[in-house]
Amino acid sequence: MAWHSGRDGEKFSIETPRAQNAELVLSRRPISPTARPSRTVVYRLFKPILFLLRAETAHRVVMRLLGWLACLPGGLWWLRMLYSVDDPVLRLRAFGLELNNPLGLAAGLDKDAEAFEAFGALGFGLVEVGTLTGEPQPGNEKPRLFRLPRDRALINRMGFNNHGAAAAAVRLKRRRRGSFALGANIGRTKLVENERAIEDYVKSTRSLAPHVDYLVINVSSPNTPGLRALQDKESLAPLLQRVRATLDAEVPARRIPLLVKVAPDLVDADIDAVAEVALELGLDGIIATNTTIARTGLATPASEIEACGAGGLSGPPVAERALYVLRRLRAKLGTQVTLIASGGIFDGDAAFERICAGASIVQIYTGLIYEGPALPQRIARGLAQRLRQAGFTSVEAAIGVDVAPPRPSA
Ligand SMILES: Cc1cc2nc3c(=O)[nH]c(=O)nc-3n(C[C@H](O)[C@H](O)[C@H](O)COP(=O)(O)O)c2cc1C
Repeated sequence: MAWHSGRDGEKFSIETPRAQNAELVLSRRPISPTARPSRTVVYRLFKPILFLLRAETAHRVVMRLLGWLACLPGGLWWLRMLYSVDDPVLRLRAFGLELNNPLGLAAGLDKDAEAFEAFGALGFGLVEVGTLTGEPQPGNEKPRLFRLPRDRALINRMGFNNHGAAAAAVRLKRRRRGSFALGANIGRTKLVENERAIEDYVKSTRSLAPHVDYLVINVSSPNTPGLRALQDKESLAPLLQRVRATLDAEVPARRIPLLVKVAPDLVDADIDAVAEVALELGLDGIIATNTTIARTGLATPASEIEACGAGGLSGPPVAERALYVLRRLRAKLGTQVTLIASGGIFDGDAAFERICAGASIVQIYTGLIYEGPALPQRIARGLAQRLRQAGFTSVEAAIGVDVAPPRPSA
């Protein structure tokens, strides 16, 4: 198998047994937008008004709107009519779950599980709520969320503002049947020290386990002091073991997949160590990656970036690094652990690239803010088109066809 990635417009030639050795010519031409104009036009009109508001206020407005739509009789049906995605080429099985498509809502947008059904109706194959913590907490002082429109990026230092895992569990319990997989992402309460972090994660796990299809351990947010130290092998292994045991004890009737979400800022040795822990403990999946603390490659003036202050950067500027971490994990893990890609995915081309690099699922967050609710459908259709053009009959057949290990990072 050979895969040649290259500059814009360059042609790619792939030979892969899964594509029946077809000579595949893939150009970097953007795929024609496939969501109907009316769906995108509405957001184009609405976006300037939203962008006049502070980023967090705009977020609250949209969450209220979605929550309200989900409660209206026929509201979810209407969203599904407009936005749902049903294409057999996109169906897959990942960590034991049957998924309609490999598009996921990344954690952080629906922290308190207030509108997860509405997000499901927007066409996502998976919706991840959280990050939820063992105790309710207000998060960092506002303002704590900033837009960088020139980079289509965000900087946030939300600090896991949420009403706690137990409160979210009450809402998750009321879940009606939907065609999406529901995940919960859990983190450490700020006031709990790392030495007692395991108890906090276990507490959240107990509340959430009966109501979710998968669980994610977040040890990678840059906005909770000391949290990322839990990515060290010595801290991570006992944490994952205890949470695994809790999941099995709380819900003995089914195996709930357990995943960990890592930072893009890990050095190679730490990425490899996470991969080792995943293999040793039989972890179901890894999400690569969270936001970055780096501020490189931005078109926004330095003074504006500095004015935002500390926090995690998301959107296109994190894409390259997230792809690097994904490739490195795939090279270390082979096919034994499911990978989820997150970081700067805005179109079907990027989704296709991450899947070929080894991801089974791709998650989005910042893209939704800049492109609106039709984005999941647009990415799904673009991805389906790329898969078919490349001769794949299913998304599963494309996972990891481009597994060349990346060059070590500087
Ligand atoms: C405002 C904001 C809040 C976030 N909160 C969380 C969070 O609570 N837990 C988490 O695991 N990731 C969180 N993330 C990270 C996203 O889930 C995602 O991994 C990251 O933004 C990269 O994807 P993107 O470029 O598509 O946004 C947050 C991101 C943003 C922009």
